[in-house]
Amino acid sequence: MRISYVCNECKKEYFSDKIEYVCPVCATQPVKAGEFRKGNLIVRLNREDLAKLKTKPNLSFYDFFPYPVPHSASFPIGVTPLVKPKRLQEKYGLPNLLFKLDSALPSGSFKDRASQLIVAQALAHGENKIALASTGNAGAAMSCAGAAYGLEVILFVPESAPINKLMQSVLYGATVVPVQGSYDDAFALSIYYTQQFGGINRNTAYNPMTVEGKKSVSIELFLQLGHADIDVVYVPVGDGCIYAGVCKGFIDLHAAGLIEKIPQVICVQSTKSNAISQAWKTGLFHSVSTTTCADSISVSSPANGRMAVRYIKETQSWATEVSDAEILEAQLELTRQAGVFVEPAAACAWAGLRKDVEKLKDLYGSDVSACVLLTGTGFKDMAVFDGRITLPASIANSYEAVTARFLDHQ
Ligand SMILES: Cc1ncc(COP(=O)(O)O)c(C=O)c1O
Repeated sequence: MRISYVCNECKKEYFSDKIEYVCPVCATQPVKAGEFRKGNLIVRLNREDLAKLKTKPNLSFYDFFPYPVPHSASFPIGVTPLVKPKRLQEKYGLPNLLFKLDSALPSGSFKDRASQLIVAQALAHGENKIALASTGNAGAAMSCAGAAYGLEVILFVPESAPINKLMQSVLYGATVVPVQGSYDDAFALSIYYTQQFGGINRNTAYNPMTVEGKKSVSIELFLQLGHADIDVVYVPVGDGCIYAGVCKGFIDLHAAGLIEKIPQVICVQSTKSNAISQAWKTGLFHSVSTTTCADSISVSSPANGRMAVRYIKETQSWATEVSDAEILEAQLELTRQAGVFVEPAAACAWAGLRKDVEKLKDLYGSDVSACVLLTGTGFKDMAVFDGRITLPASIANSYEAVTARFLDHQ
C-alpha cells in the first residue's frame, strides 16, 4: 500500500519512503505553556490502492497496512474475542451489546496492535532496534513483540513508574532505563537515543505508525461482524492514540467504499483525567491535573490530543466523562456479571456506555449495536484492589469445618 503523511495541523502532505515522525514545521513551533503539542502526522493511504480493496477476496487488516508484516503468527494480533455479554445485555436492555476483548492480545493489552506495525516498519527499513518511552502497557507490548521477533527494545521510563508494569518488560528481555525525571523527560531522552544510536522510535503520538497499527481493531471488527454496520464504539482515552486509531480504521474502510457510514466513536475519560473531553467541549487545548486511579489513562497533556478532538468532530461523536467510583464499579460489574477481568482504564469504556444507555436508546433505539473496547487485562493492575477486596479466612481441614462454614447458606 502506497502512503503519504499529512500534518494534523497545517495539512501539508509529505511523500517519503523514509521513516517519518512529526511535521517538521508544526512540531517545532513553540506551543503556549500548558497547551497540547502540535504537528502529529497522519498516514494517508493511496486512493487507487485503497479502491482495489473493495473487491479483494479474503480481506484482512493487513491489506490496509503501509508495511507487510512478516511471520505475523509469531506475534499474533487478532482476531480477539467478541463477547456477547448475555447477563449485561439483559440487564441494560441492549441485545446487541458487544465487548471486544483486546485484553486477550499477547502482552495483555491493545498496545500490541501498534507494536506489531512498528516491528514491520523496523524490518522493512533493516533496523533491529526499537526505542520508546512508556510507563506501562506500550513498553510491555513493544518488549513482548521484540522478544517474539528477536529485536532489541530500549525502554526509557520515569524512575517513579509502577514496578508491576515494568516487570513485564524486564521479563521479556528489554533494556529498561529508569530516568530521574518525568514521562516527558523519558520521552525526550528516547528521541535523543534514536538520533544518536539509531533504531526506530516507537513513541506513541510521535511515530505515526502507532496510530496506524491501532486502526487494525476497527477493520478486524468490521470483518468479524461479517461486514455488518456497527452504530457506536466506546473507547477509553488518555493520550488519544487508541481513539485516533479506531477512527482511522473506520475512515479507511469508508474511503475504500467498504462501509457507508462511519460509526460514532465515543471518547470516554475519567473526570480526573479529562483533557481531551474538555478540549472537545471548550475548544481550548489545555492540560489538566490528573489524579485518576486508572493509571493507563492518566494523562495531563495528551500527546495526540489535537488529533483526537478533530476525530471526535469528524465522526460526529462525543466525549463522556465518568468518575473513578464509576470506573471501579464498572470493573467489578464486568468481572462478576460477564466474567471479563480488565484493568480500570479498560473498564472506563464500559462505565461510559453504562452512563450513556438512555442517550443511545434515544438516538438509535434499544437495538443499537454497540461495541466496548476492552483494552487491558485486569492482571495488569492488581494494586487497585488493595483495601477493597479481602480474601476469605481459611477453614480447618475437617468435614465439621465445611459444615460450619456453609450452614448459614442453607
Ligand atoms: C489499557 C489501556 N487502555 C486505554 C489506554 C488509552 O490509550 P491512549 O493513551 O492512546 O488514549 C491505554 C494507554 O496506555 C491503555 O494502556
